[in-house]
Amino acid sequence: MPVLDLFKLDGQVAIVTGGAQNLGRQHALALAEAGADVAICDLAEVAGRETQAEIEALGRRAWFGKVDVTQCEQIDAFVETVIQQFGKIDILVNHAAMPSEGVPLHEVPDDKWRQIIDTNLSSLFYFGKRVAQHMIQRGQGGRIINISSMNWMVIGNIFPRHNVTYCVAKSGVAHLTRGMASEWAQYDIRVNALAPGYIHTPQTAASAKIPEILERNLAATPMRRYGRVDELKGAIVFLASEASSFATGTVLIIDGGYTVW
Ligand SMILES: NC(=O)c1ccc[n+]([C@@H]2O[C@H](COP(=O)([O-])OP(=O)(O)OC[C@H]3O[C@@H](n4cnc5c(N)ncnc54)[C@H](O)[C@@H]3O)[C@@H](O)[C@H]2O)c1
Repeated sequence: MPVLDLFKLDGQVAIVTGGAQNLGRQHALALAEAGADVAICDLAEVAGRETQAEIEALGRRAWFGKVDVTQCEQIDAFVETVIQQFGKIDILVNHAAMPSEGVPLHEVPDDKWRQIIDTNLSSLFYFGKRVAQHMIQRGQGGRIINISSMNWMVIGNIFPRHNVTYCVAKSGVAHLTRGMASEWAQYDIRVNALAPGYIHTPQTAASAKIPEILERNLAATPMRRYGRVDELKGAIVFLASEASSFATGTVLIIDGGYTVW
């Protein structure tokens, strides 16, 4: 097969959690550009409906559902509706996450710790498990992409802000990915993680506004810049398509070189 054809997703159905805006929106559109129909879910309703319209404008089927990814009954209803409306699920991209806590670890309220771990780690299990059950039952395999962060390897040096809980959750995402990959390879379900470095989004804007933090992050990055929000699209389509047919359990770091130093 010609190499560019390996990236085509025609006739595939994808779910993108947290797909309403920023990186999730970019990646929902990337999958649609590659040929997939895309169902997105998010808490952000207005942005979600706008992204749905953008996907439809590309000539694909799209659907937006307002879902809190920490609420299993809402995930059940969403997954069931996608299967009813689209007939199947081939691809799941788990983006939904919340930003760092911002306060020192010894001051993080217990409830905040639970909320970040539930949103940024456990929800990937809740969603992944349900979609994998469908894929196993259908017997046609599938691909799951979990969004981790370079912070799965290194604690973000964004003092005087703090983000240990976020980093711990993202580390869990990397290992959850390996666990899913090891258990579901027998069903032809490939599970990989994407671990971005600093990308210009509202999530990084708070710390990037502090010159001391921005300068430190740029000095620690060989490429001396943050990534653009559209610079991970190729990686998502690679991991979602036949182009990555022998990859499972991989944590693909794309960070301008931050983690090499
Ligand atoms: N921006 C970066 O530099 C960067 C770096 C590394 C990893 N990441 C990861 O990439 C992903 C996307 O990042 P982003 O910067 O676009 O973040 P973002 O906050 O803009 O997007 C996350 C989306 O998840 C949604 N969401 C949050 N909690 C939810 C919940 N309980 N239920 C449903 N939806 C919920 C938000 O509404 C938002 O649309 C996240 O997993 C993030 O941790 C981002």
